[in-house]
Amino acid sequence: MDNFSFQNPTKLIFGEGQIAKIANEIPKDKKVLVIYGGGSIKRNGVYEQISAALEGHQWSEFSGIEPNPSFHTALKAVEQIKAEGVEYLLAVGGGSVADATKFIAAAACFDGDPWSILSEGARIRAALPLAVVLTLPATGSESNPNGVMTNYETQEKLAFYGRQLFPKFAVLDPTLTYSLPAKQVANGIVDAYVHTVEQYLTYPVGADLQDRFAEGILRTLVDNGPKALSEPKNYTVRANVMLSATMALNGLIGSGVPQDWATHFIGHELTALHGLDHGQTLAVILPAVMAEKREQKHEKLLQYAKEVWNISSGTESDRIDRAIDETRAFFESLGIATRLSDYGVTEQDIPAMIAALSEHKMTALGEHGDITPEVSAAILKRCL
Ligand code: NZQ
Ligand code: ZN
Repeated sequence: MDNFSFQNPTKLIFGEGQIAKIANEIPKDKKVLVIYGGGSIKRNGVYEQISAALEGHQWSEFSGIEPNPSFHTALKAVEQIKAEGVEYLLAVGGGSVADATKFIAAAACFDGDPWSILSEGARIRAALPLAVVLTLPATGSESNPNGVMTNYETQEKLAFYGRQLFPKFAVLDPTLTYSLPAKQVANGIVDAYVHTVEQYLTYPVGADLQDRFAEGILRTLVDNGPKALSEPKNYTVRANVMLSATMALNGLIGSGVPQDWATHFIGHELTALHGLDHGQTLAVILPAVMAEKREQKHEKLLQYAKEVWNISSGTESDRIDRAIDETRAFFESLGIATRLSDYGVTEQDIPAMIAALSEHKMTALGEHGDITPEVSAAILKRCL
């Protein structure tokens, strides 16, 4: 097992009706800005629950955060914060709203041009306190210090990080997810699945417990994913999906193990240039990464085949083929297409994606740093 430090300060408040608890978590003397997206919270009753919970607080709101949140929209929220003297941010939504709120929290305290946080990875030294009421289980953003923002003028989707950006608390109420469209439920399950795979499917380092945690999350998603679609109001199913998504990217399973993340970084270019949903990009790219890197990932692929898909007979090569097929079939069973051609992306589009990866210094991806632009091109060809 590799050395590691692990600290996750986000308090998780889990279960039906837990929005009411936010009143005790946010100091009464802080001016709060509630940040949300395109309005789903106005249609599903979440906004009313937030309003009721914040009755004793002074608060205002900022809406219109897009899926794949816009850097320029976030700057408008920063202006409002400065004008109103806001001191605490409450994100109500999915990963996009959570990520944008983190960026806003950092940009509001940043000396200099906030674009440099994304373009150069400029260090975040301070941020407003923030918390999340999660409505879409997927990204893990509700209890991690990461975010991803998009500059629609330059067609760039770039990640950022700051240890001050851990939410103070996250409300995880599975009933808030009942109103999700099937496509978003499926995207979220794929995202949580791929987060887990990217911290697991590398090479063995004797991290038995992290492996069992990861396999537990993957199996929970395989068991509950289809039911989340066929029984949308099954509380137990939604609860299992929600907790899995949070645990998949809160730092725990990634402690002391090698990590990959090539699927995510290639996926960001696919979203930036072709507008695919984040989950869709992952469903397309992961099977191709598994196939392209099957030699380097050989031992873990066999373990994955056995522990997640109960495949333990046949030649090693056959077992790996079947595990990759099962992975693709699982994503497709959720209604997510797994080929670039399904989204109208062709071989002619690959050079621009490779150029963007190079531009963003994504030239040594994967757990061995050996996914060069040439290898990324080979991966994308496998996705056609
Ligand atoms: O904007 P509203 O109206 O709220 O609608 C949203 C949005 O259209 C809707 N929605 C959310 N909750 C709902 C709901 N509709 C009905 N009922 C509900 N309860 O769903 C749509 C998608 O929301 P979004 O927040 O974009 O989805 P997701 O949570 O999948 O977030 C994706 C973003 O997170 C980033 C992705 O790159 C992408 O930008 N990621 C963030 C990560 C992190 N911070 O650690 C890691 C991930 O790998 C990922 O990159
Ligand atoms: Zn993701």
